[in-house]
Amino acid sequence: MNSILFVCLGNICRSPLAEGIAKQYANNHNLDIFIDSAGTSSWHEGENPCTNSIKVAKENGIDISKQKSRPVTNADKNRFDLIIALDQNNKIDLESLGFSNVRLLGEFGGLGSIDIPDPYYFSDFSGFEKVYKLIEQGIDGIFAEHKGAN
Ligand code: 4NP
Repeated sequence: MNSILFVCLGNICRSPLAEGIAKQYANNHNLDIFIDSAGTSSWHEGENPCTNSIKVAKENGIDISKQKSRPVTNADKNRFDLIIALDQNNKIDLESLGFSNVRLLGEFGGLGSIDIPDPYYFSDFSGFEKVYKLIEQGIDGIFAEHKGAN
């Protein structure tokens, strides 16, 4: 496995966290993997991650503040070994855009195929802390599953 793309709706809350957590994991384990994130929408194109995602990442020692939202592109279809949707709607949207072999983050790490909840409308910060933990668990599972040969 040489590359992973994480995809949510806006690319400002969940997938930027996934990108940051996976990059930190790769860095800590000396893995040479290209990691990126994108949105199925272009609604927030060019924006930095949402304040609470930046905050929860920072509390966990990760700086995602410089990331910028971008929509998925056709070029992404051939560029990544793994395309990971944060929830089932993201997966359906990707498939309708012509992406194949999309996996759900919730399939990994014993999460039980759950959707990573969309925290955009959460009023309290604790929701972001829960989302952070779920994403971290899924990403640990991805790397455990892809250890070694591929
Ligand atoms: P994300 O969260 O998909 O985790 O980045 C959202 C961000 C923006 C919107 C919805 C979800 N929105 O409706 O603008």
